[in-house]
Amino acid sequence: MTRLRPWHLLRRTVEQTGHRPPSSDDAAWAESWLTCAEASIFHRMGNADRRHSIAVARRAAGHDSSDAVTVAAALLHDAGKAVDDLRVWERIAATFLGGRRARWRRYLDHENIGIALLLDVGARPEVVAILRGTDDRHHIVMAADDA
Ligand SMILES: [Fe+2]
Repeated sequence: MTRLRPWHLLRRTVEQTGHRPPSSDDAAWAESWLTCAEASIFHRMGNADRRHSIAVARRAAGHDSSDAVTVAAALLHDAGKAVDDLRVWERIAATFLGGRRARWRRYLDHENIGIALLLDVGARPEVVAILRGTDDRHHIVMAADDA
């Protein structure tokens, strides 16, 4: 399900400016939660999106009801953004102006696109269910993303 949350997206966009990759410790921590197939999608994400996803996953990992697949889902919750890796201004424009361009429409639909990518590579069904919102652990990932 797509959630339009302009303030979250704007705050996240501002804090994610910069192109540095995740630290080697963060990257190793992230990969320890992912299967090879899932990691192949994680590696397609831009540096800023991977840094953001690691921050979300660390928050999700601290939740009392979290487990390994919840952390993996948190790491992959923005996987659909890997398709275009829009510039900051495009993300802001898409958020506030809507899907006026194909790339912007894909950005706004990144949750469904990410699920399709994960299904395509054979990600764990539990990870996909969490991201689809058909598993109760979905709320852990969303709360960690909104924090
Ligand atoms: Fe996010």
